Amino acid sequence: MARALVVYESLFGDARAIAHAIAEGLSPRLQVDVVAAAEAPAEIGPDVDLLVVGGPNHAFSMPRPSTRRGAVEQYGARIDDPDRGLHEWLESVRPAGSAPRAAAFDTRSDHPKLVVKLDHAARTEEKLLRGLGLSLLAPAEHFFVTDAQGPLADGEEERARQWGARLADLVVEGSPPS
Ligand SMILES: Cc1cc2nc3c(=O)[nH]c(=O)nc-3n(C[C@H](O)[C@H](O)[C@H](O)COP(=O)(O)O)c2cc1C
Repeated sequence: MARALVVYESLFGDARAIAHAIAEGLSPRLQVDVVAAAEAPAEIGPDVDLLVVGGPNHAFSMPRPSTRRGAVEQYGARIDDPDRGLHEWLESVRPAGSAPRAAAFDTRSDHPKLVVKLDHAARTEEKLLRGLGLSLLAPAEHFFVTDAQGPLADGEEERARQWGARLADLVVEGSPPS
């Protein structure tokens, strides 16, 4: 059975819930591990066929040390180390064997409409994935929260399960690299 690794960053639990829902969608067809970026391996094993990464939008991009500190000070987020997250992991990790296919997701506010269109954490994630030499299996997906500390908007976990299932189909049945 092909393998997938889902690596996420989450300050308030929403991106973590999405990561686990994606894993549920993947799991009928792939063996799946889900891990927080701060605990993710330094190398992507040669047996990994699909890498899925995702986390929240912070100030129109991926979280960084200053925005994580902002989340702690402004919203009471509880995190162990503001200097470690998905961006830092993607900057340091190395594929150990043949590069797996990859896909990115982010979580973001569902308002105001202009901001929904502007912010792009997933775009930065995709850039970092390409920088690792990975090809993208599918376009990034975005999942909505109703406020900075969550919760997820209605139906988002189900949508994440369905996206995971579609990714698994693409891995198992094959698709051209992009
Ligand atoms: C410091 C900070 C900056 C944020 N900036 C944005 C933003 O630019 N665009 C947006 O849609 N949401 C923004 N948000 C809301 C986050 O997207 C939201 O907290 C996140 O999706 C929740 O996911 P999590 O529970 O996994 O951390 C911001 C939140 C924080 C704490």
